[in-house]
Amino acid sequence: MESAAKPSSVQNLLLRALLFVVSILLLRFVYVVTLRGGSCGGGDYCFFTNLAEVATPASSAATASNPSYRALWTTLEWRKAVGYYSSVFQDLIAEGFLSSESESLCVDTAAGYEVLALKEIGVPDAVGVAKKSAPPLVVGGGEPLRLPFKNGSFDFVYAGQSLDRSKQPAYLAAEITRTLRPHWFLAVLTTSARDAYSLNSLTELFPGCIIVLSREINGMNSPEPLQEIVFQKLESAEIVRPKKGSSNHCPLPEHKLQILRSAEPLIKKEPLKPWISLKRNIQNVKYLPSIADINFKQRYVYVDVGARSYGSSIGSWFRKQYPKQNHTFDIYAIEADRAFHGEYRTKKGVNLLPFAAWKGQGMGRIRPIGDSNDKVLSGNVHAIQGFDFTAWLKQTVTEKDYVVMKMDVEGTEFDLVPRLLKTGTICLIDELFLECHYNRWQKCCPGQRSPKYKYTYGDCLKLFTSLRNSGVLVHQWW
Ligand SMILES: *[C@@H]1O[C@H](CO)[C@@H](O)[C@H](O)[C@H]1NC(C)=O
Ligand SMILES: *[C@@H]1O[C@H](CO)[C@@H](O)[C@H](O)[C@H]1NC(C)=O
Repeated sequence: MESAAKPSSVQNLLLRALLFVVSILLLRFVYVVTLRGGSCGGGDYCFFTNLAEVATPASSAATASNPSYRALWTTLEWRKAVGYYSSVFQDLIAEGFLSSESESLCVDTAAGYEVLALKEIGVPDAVGVAKKSAPPLVVGGGEPLRLPFKNGSFDFVYAGQSLDRSKQPAYLAAEITRTLRPHWFLAVLTTSARDAYSLNSLTELFPGCIIVLSREINGMNSPEPLQEIVFQKLESAEIVRPKKGSSNHCPLPEHKLQILRSAEPLIKKEPLKPWISLKRNIQNVKYLPSIADINFKQRYVYVDVGARSYGSSIGSWFRKQYPKQNHTFDIYAIEADRAFHGEYRTKKGVNLLPFAAWKGQGMGRIRPIGDSNDKVLSGNVHAIQGFDFTAWLKQTVTEKDYVVMKMDVEGTEFDLVPRLLKTGTICLIDELFLECHYNRWQKCCPGQRSPKYKYTYGDCLKLFTSLRNSGVLVHQWW
C-alpha cells in the first residue's frame, strides 16, 4: 500500500545520506591519524591533507586553495623547513607546552615556515610577525621592538632564534613577555646558553618567567646543535625579586662561581721582580669572554678608571686585544689629568669623564699627576670634588649590562674598592683589571722598596681576594 511504502523509501534515503556522511567523517579521521602518526613525509599529499583545513573554517580554507600559496608551500624548501618546525612543535605538544587551542605567535619569522607548521599539526590559531608582512601567515610588525599585539594576547610564543639575531635582545624579550598570558609558555632557540653564565644572561632577559625546559636539539641547516629553552610566565604576584647585593656581599650564584673556578690563580707570593713576573702574568689572564658566552646583555660597557693617554690601555689593549665576541662596547675614560684630555676629543665612541674617580681625602696622599704639574692639579680640584664614582656607576649601568673595568688609580684603590664593596656597586662589574700599588721591590735599586706607596703586597692580595669572594672576576694588572 502506498501509505506504508512512502515512509520506508524516505527512511532508505535518510539511511543512505547518513552512511555517506559517516564515510566522509571516517575518511577525515584517517587523514588525521595518518598525519598525527608522523607519516607525513613531505610533498603534495601532506599539504592537501593538512589539519589546518580540517580544523579551521572558511578563511584558511580559502587561502589554502589559493593556487599561488599552494605552489609556494609545496616547494622543497618549504617542505623541509615546515617539516623541521613541525617536529619541534610536536615535541612541545607532547610535553604540554602547546595545544590545539593555543593562540600562538611566531616572532621574527620572515617566511612563515613556523606558522604553517603550527597550522599543519593542528594549532590553527597561529600568526607570525616580522618586520615585513608576508600574507597570509605573517603580519608586518613595523618596529621590531614593538610587537603589534595587546598585552597577554598569546598562550604560546615561539621566539625561535630571534634573540640571537636581535641587536637589542633585552627589548625584544620584554615585548615577547608582554604579549604572553601569565601561566603560558614561550620557547627560544639559541646557539648561546650553553654555559651557566650565558644561560643566566638569557634568563635575566625574561624577568617574571621561569625555565621549565632546557635541552639540546638539532638545528635545521647547521650541524651545530641548538639550545631549546622553554619559559613559563608567572602571575605578577608569584614573582620573587632576586635579592640585591648589599653591604659587602653580592649574590654568588652558580654561574659566577663557575667563572671564578676557571680564572687564573692569584699570585700568592710577593714577586721579587714584579716588573717581570706581574707583567708576564698578563699572558695568563683568563678573560671572561674566553670562558663564557657573553650574549644577551643589554649593553656592553668598558670603564677605564685612570685612563691616562688613549693609547696606554684603551687603544693598545682594550680595543685591540680584549675578546668582545663581536659586541660593540660603550667606552668611558675617567682621567683627571688635563694633559690627556685633548686627544679624547677626536676618539669616536669614547666618553671622557675629566675627573678622578675618588673624592676628597684620598687626593692628598697620592696625587694623580706628577709634582711638576701642581698648578694643573689645583685647577682640577673643584671638578674632582663634584664626582662620586660609585653613584655615577650605579646611574650608568645595570645588572643587565656587561661591564668591564680597568682601574689604575695610583694607590687610591684602597679607598675606592672598599667603597664599591660596601655599597654593593661592585656587583655591577663583570670583570675587573686592577693594578694594585704597593711598596714593591724596585728595578733601579736592588733590595730597596718603592717609597711611593705605604701598602704591602699582602694588602693587595687581601683586596684581590675580597673581590673574588664577592663574585668579581678580578685580574692582577700591571
Ligand atoms: C602592558 O604591559 C606593559 C609591560 O608589561 C605595561 O607597562 C603596560 O602598562 C601594560 N598595558 C596595559 C594596557 O595593561
Ligand atoms: C663576528 O662577525 C664576523 C662577521 O660578521 C663573523 O664572521 C664571526 O664569526 C663573528 N665572530 C663571533 C665570535 O661571533
